Amino acid sequence: MIKVEVPATTANLGPGFDTLGMSLELYNEVEVAEIEEGLEIEVVGYGSDELTTDKSNLIYQSMERVFTKVGYSPQGLKIKLKNRIPLARGLGSSAAAIVGGLVAANKLAGEKLSIDQLVDLATEIEGHPDNVAPALLGGVVISTVKGSKVVYKKLAVPAKLKTVVCIPDYQLSTAKAREVLPAEVSFKDAVFNLSHTGLLLTGLLTEDYTLIKEALDDKLHQPYRQDLVPGLAEILKEVKSDALGVTISGSGPTVIAFTLENEGKIGKKMVDIFAEHGLDSHYMITHPTN
Ligand code: HSE
Repeated sequence: MIKVEVPATTANLGPGFDTLGMSLELYNEVEVAEIEEGLEIEVVGYGSDELTTDKSNLIYQSMERVFTKVGYSPQGLKIKLKNRIPLARGLGSSAAAIVGGLVAANKLAGEKLSIDQLVDLATEIEGHPDNVAPALLGGVVISTVKGSKVVYKKLAVPAKLKTVVCIPDYQLSTAKAREVLPAEVSFKDAVFNLSHTGLLLTGLLTEDYTLIKEALDDKLHQPYRQDLVPGLAEILKEVKSDALGVTISGSGPTVIAFTLENEGKIGKKMVDIFAEHGLDSHYMITHPTN
């Protein structure tokens, strides 16, 4: 039996749209065993009542991609998923499914694919690398797609950095959250994000928390997503003074604060602001992982 743990991830980290991501200490588990015939999928935890358990399941589909690529044909498969990452909340649940499937299938087939090949394949399935890369590699990952290849670099998470996620009680698909983005952005906004991504990376690399605090702003995606996440504008404004910064996690609706202290106070403030906008939510202190 093969067992794989895959972390939740938070993409973008504010200004690094489709480019930066970080793994979080919250894991899904995938157990796979070869059986004599057929496909058995059991889901425990998030998605047990909504994920498909036939060949359309994303984990199975991802496994198939590896089997096809390396020429491996299991007779039958039994897959058990223990899902702790909530679905469609901006915490990388689909990236975790893709990566869990790819890594488990690669182990089953004798580890024929390299980590670079897995990053490429996962990105091809997901469409962007910023969740799948840290789900595979851990830490903070900067990445970009060049043709069919992903160029990436993993960085260590600064030692004192803590994260608080606040998860509203509704789903928002990445597809829907990408539909609201404009086809073009202004030169000024592009320069804003370039400079802030540069500052953020420098802050992360040098553990300069003052720089990180200056850098966690964005003009490329959050302004367009505010209507999809009621209370977002207030959270971004009001939580900033207690934290280094706060942003949408991935494409939302979860919001994530990066901080050195005040985790409980920050979490409670985010829950209260969502409540003022009629949304139930809960917060979790989820440390970044390396
Ligand atoms: N970079 C992606 C987006 C992440 O913001 O649409 C999706 O989780």
